[in-house]
Amino acid sequence: MVRFSVFAFALVFATGASAAEPAMGDMQIVSPGGVLTLNFSIRDGVPTYRVDRQGQAVVRASRLGLQLKAGPALDSGLKLLSQATNQVDRTWKQPWGEQTEIRDRHNELSVKLGGAAGDGRRLDIVFRVFDDGVGFRYRIPEQPGLGAIEISDEVTEFAMTGDHKTWWLPAYQQAYSEYHYTESPLTRTDKILTPVTLKTEQGLYLSIHEAALIDYASMVLHRREGTTFKADLVPWSDGIKVRGKAPMESPWRTIQIADSPGGLVESYLILNLNEPCRLKDLSWIKPGKYVGVWWEMHLGKSTWSTGPTHGATTANVKRYLDFAAKNGFDGVLVEGWNQGWDGDWTANGEIFSFTKPTPDFDIEALAKYGRERGVRLIGHHETAGAIDNYERQLEDAFTLYERLGVRAVKTGYVVQGQSILRIDKDGKKHQEWHDGQYMVRHYWKVIETAAKHHVMLDVHEPMKDTGERRTYPNMMTREGACGTEYDAWGGKDHNPPDHTTILPFTRLLAGPMDYTPGIFSLTGFLNGNRVYSTVAKQLALYVIVFSPLHMAADLPENYAARPEPFQFIKDVPTDWTTTKVLNAQIGDFVTIARKDRKSDDWYIGSITDETPRKLSVQLNFLDPGRSYVAEIYRDGKDASWEKNPNPVEIDRQPVDSKSTLELSLASGGGTAIRIRAK
Ligand code: NOJ
Ligand code: CA
Repeated sequence: MVRFSVFAFALVFATGASAAEPAMGDMQIVSPGGVLTLNFSIRDGVPTYRVDRQGQAVVRASRLGLQLKAGPALDSGLKLLSQATNQVDRTWKQPWGEQTEIRDRHNELSVKLGGAAGDGRRLDIVFRVFDDGVGFRYRIPEQPGLGAIEISDEVTEFAMTGDHKTWWLPAYQQAYSEYHYTESPLTRTDKILTPVTLKTEQGLYLSIHEAALIDYASMVLHRREGTTFKADLVPWSDGIKVRGKAPMESPWRTIQIADSPGGLVESYLILNLNEPCRLKDLSWIKPGKYVGVWWEMHLGKSTWSTGPTHGATTANVKRYLDFAAKNGFDGVLVEGWNQGWDGDWTANGEIFSFTKPTPDFDIEALAKYGRERGVRLIGHHETAGAIDNYERQLEDAFTLYERLGVRAVKTGYVVQGQSILRIDKDGKKHQEWHDGQYMVRHYWKVIETAAKHHVMLDVHEPMKDTGERRTYPNMMTREGACGTEYDAWGGKDHNPPDHTTILPFTRLLAGPMDYTPGIFSLTGFLNGNRVYSTVAKQLALYVIVFSPLHMAADLPENYAARPEPFQFIKDVPTDWTTTKVLNAQIGDFVTIARKDRKSDDWYIGSITDETPRKLSVQLNFLDPGRSYVAEIYRDGKDASWEKNPNPVEIDRQPVDSKSTLELSLASGGGTAIRIRAK
């Protein structure tokens, strides 16, 4: 039952300078289950909000508003013109995902603000309050004298209540968001990316992020003093943050709040704040698993460039297609298939062709060969950040892939230095960030073009995920943190054993990630590189990391050599009815159970950092009275990531909803389980 929300509107009067003018009423909006309360008020013309959870402040009074380069102030001198409330309780279905049915249950407050002095200034703010968090967004309505809009600053604050433990990535860096999370007190942060995760002294977990980032700049958080973050919009090269025209709206600013780390994972607030699906026919959108001509290049065994070690040759790709067909994979990714890789491709993005294959890659024949065997080529568009060159070819590139039956394309935006190249209409070159409005527009253009040509996307060096997949479910997965590639060549920047115990509660709160797990041959790479994991942990990552397209990243011969553990990768689905976090401590361990969408089977992944652990897992989520068989892939005797990563013990045992499994995870290890319904 939905309890009717409580809206208490009380007038308070300001004191001091503007005492002559009544301050606007404090407004409270309570979440449907009474868990959270959002207070909105205007003090001395300045709009602010505050969030409480069960009577305790979670966000202290924080400013709201926008500043325009030319035009009226939209962050001060404001008064309330009117307010409206709304109450929503609806359930919608994800065409694919970590959960089929999602309940959107919130109470909404919209306020219309105007110039206190009666001038024509206008700003609206919409708040949505859920039991698991809040979202709010700005709308700039049409108003006299406001034509083109240039936002010079967003003053939104997130005033925290203490020096919370914070898991964060730095913003404005050379390698976009490809860093490892730092865990530190909030006061050690400066400019950081979202989503950021915080833990309060009272044991609450918070995630600050945004939803529906469309035609706007990404929001970075800037801690300027104390424990208050301020929105810092990633600027255009000329310093303007956002360009637009009234009426326009910002993305939702979101704060998810839970009393356990798993509560953040099981929150679908970001998706709830995105618009419903805009595509009618979804029959071509299919989650699945793929292999590819990829890891061999990262290991330095073959090259993207043409020549004697070129990876994307017809013969080599045929080998992968055969392997995929034999083992039930849907796709074969081929990188280095097109012209433009020779020389220093990171500096020469302008010469990439997205329609011309290299002479030793027979794209027509390979696409046909794959189609006949039920396997599709997965396309690749590495842009090296030369957006102009890519956009000129976008339509032709996707037309080609559509004709060949390519259903998924991986895109990439590796750049030298930190800048995307923008060429304006006069041919002048500009340096843009990956996450400014220019690129947000670009990423959306690619999503829409791909959808038009029935192509699913896997975006590397992406814009942050803010739930676009709800509106365009062909936006499948993306990178946006360090993936397995760092283990091939990262050197001191390799992924430490705790990396994947942090991702589910940070980067993955935003959405799916193409982590490319499944490495069986973990050691002996160039320059002493290796994977800091056991083989069993590699299996568990298929459940821990949600991605509707998951790669089996290792070389076919390494899988052929170990058919028993490989069986788990062949079995594990990438599309789920439901997801449950069974236990977790961020940065230490996590166990996740997910139910297959196509059967009554469940899968469990459990992983640890460098510390070996024993964990008890109750199977009380299974159907009562039903019999199952658990197929358990655990770290073998004396396994450890460092000294003995290979042993995997496979064991079968009958289980039911009353069973408890005792897991024993090696250092850097894990357990992967298929629970087969009888
Ligand atoms: C970086 C991507 O993350 C990686 O997967 C890809 O192989 C290279 N760029 C080349 O495009
Ligand atoms: Ca990358």
